[in-house]
Amino acid sequence: MMVAICGAGTMGRGIALSSLLANHSVIITDQHGPALDQASAYIGKQLQSSVEKGRITAEQQAAMLGSLRTTTDLHELADADLVIEAIVERLDVKHELFKTLEAICRPTCILSSNTSSISISALARCLADPSRFVGLHFFNPAHIMKLVEVVSGMLTAPHVIDMVTEFAKGLGKTTVLAKDAPGFIVNRVARNFYNEAQRIVMEGAATVEQTDRCMKALGFKMGPFELMDLIGVDVNLDVTTSMWGQFFYEPRFTPSLLQQQIVHGGLHGRKTGRGFYPYES
Ligand code: NAI
Repeated sequence: MMVAICGAGTMGRGIALSSLLANHSVIITDQHGPALDQASAYIGKQLQSSVEKGRITAEQQAAMLGSLRTTTDLHELADADLVIEAIVERLDVKHELFKTLEAICRPTCILSSNTSSISISALARCLADPSRFVGLHFFNPAHIMKLVEVVSGMLTAPHVIDMVTEFAKGLGKTTVLAKDAPGFIVNRVARNFYNEAQRIVMEGAATVEQTDRCMKALGFKMGPFELMDLIGVDVNLDVTTSMWGQFFYEPRFTPSLLQQQIVHGGLHGRKTGRGFYPYES
């Protein structure tokens, strides 16, 4: 299958890697050329590490690298069977992209979004044919995390749900069919994990480090602040802000001032070398 990934950032490159490992042809596109180079370098490094660990052979690595293309030209997506969008978490920007894609891709091509929080029905509204649109929500790092939420919009066709579910299972993922509610399942539950942790720190009841240490001692693999740094503090704030609006500004979903300050300062987490923690060293 020819899989097109729009957005070569944290998620796009992981979804691309996962698709290559399942022997799909992959084309990654991004408006920012250097992001494509970084994504290719990341994928090359991960595949090399898989060879060194004996998970794939050198021949498989070569075949996978040969199945990968990158481009800034959306017209090269004309033959895609499935598009997975992983660009910035903004409805207006995603709408622009999908309107362009609908004009370029074949009518049978399925259009999907990896959005964390934007309504799938709202995203599909910009299309002449919303029945081919579906949510396909991977988790970070996308080539490692097993769960994928498949999200049906109001007008998504049943065969589209079946097709992307089979696709995700073919990547070795566990799928769950989620309703198109704000934050779907996981991100809604997770809002308290992030927001309450930030309230505790703002009240001075505990430090960032203490809070993370407590949650890890309880069995979580990462504390809330470490996880926000991995996700991208900016991306995490966008998701909370989007969900807060969709819940008609319910106080329990109010974004944190602490997080807003961190984002204003450009401390976006691991990807910028500093978030709640420094990563320079
Ligand atoms: P990111 O900021 O790491 O990467 C986004 C990429 O999209 C950048 O390379 C940027 O140049 C590109 N881009 C932005 N606007 C574009 C446009 N109009 N056309 C083409 N490329 C464009 O973001 P990340 O973290 O990969 O998130 C992407 C999507 O995945 C968002 O919708 C986010 O909510 C979702 N998501 C993020 C997760 C995370 O842990 N970071 C987890 C699950 C979903």
